[in-house]
Amino acid sequence: MELSAVDLSQVPGHVACVMDGNGRWAERRGLKRTDGHAAGEEALFDAVHGALELGIEWLTVYAFSTENWRRPVDEVRYLMRFNESLLLRRVDELDDLGVRVRFVGRRDWRVPKRLIDRMDSSIDKTAGNSELTLTIAFNYGGRAEIVDSVRRLVAEGAGPDDITEAAISRHLYDPEMPEVDLMVRTSGEFRISNFLLWELAYSELVFVDTLWPDFRRQHLADAVAEFQRRTRRFGGLSG
Ligand code: IPE
Ligand code: IPE
Ligand code: MG
Repeated sequence: MELSAVDLSQVPGHVACVMDGNGRWAERRGLKRTDGHAAGEEALFDAVHGALELGIEWLTVYAFSTENWRRPVDEVRYLMRFNESLLLRRVDELDDLGVRVRFVGRRDWRVPKRLIDRMDSSIDKTAGNSELTLTIAFNYGGRAEIVDSVRRLVAEGAGPDDITEAAISRHLYDPEMPEVDLMVRTSGEFRISNFLLWELAYSELVFVDTLWPDFRRQHLADAVAEFQRRTRRFGGLSG
């Protein structure tokens, strides 16, 4: 990989990707939209290798949103089976790479039990790994996550003064997940689409035209290089 543009001592700790453009990638080739989802698997694994090479510690990918249930039932069913099969086929490889797999999202009745079981076995199998935490956002919505956090707080008996930013953060789906430093969205769309709303508060946003199935580690390195050219101020003054 061409890493020359990246300063390996200033790599973002947490990179989040909106893996978008699978359908358009397929349509441009006269293929079915679902073929685009299948082609996204290679992009995901190349991005994982890139994250490992760059020393990124947290990589979070948006695989299925709470709004994606609006898609045709066949596409939704395909995505459920595809994600189950991907975990079944490739969790050993992730484990060998030292990747710790986690999930964020709602585990409601619409997510097939077999997929939930596969998620749990992937979490358990890779729990001891520490090279990279790969979090898959599945049936995930940023608003739902904040609502679920506040609900849990209230269920624990929290009163108005207990509802603080720190308390909400501690009750998010994965309290250990650090805030996002860099968010990359593929396919030329300039929006967040309900991804990690809380965690993105001060992240740098990079939008690329590449469709997700064409995304490779070099694109990740380029996004990190772009991140390193930005000045983060967090509301203060730089320098
Ligand atoms: C992203 O690709 C994958 C999911 C949302 C599951 P899309 O399926 O949204 O592809 P486009 O945006 O229609 O091209
Ligand atoms: C966001 O992409 C969700 C995932 C990549 C899983 P969408 O394709 O669903 O987003 P919109 O509909 O273009 O905003
Ligand atoms: Mg899309």
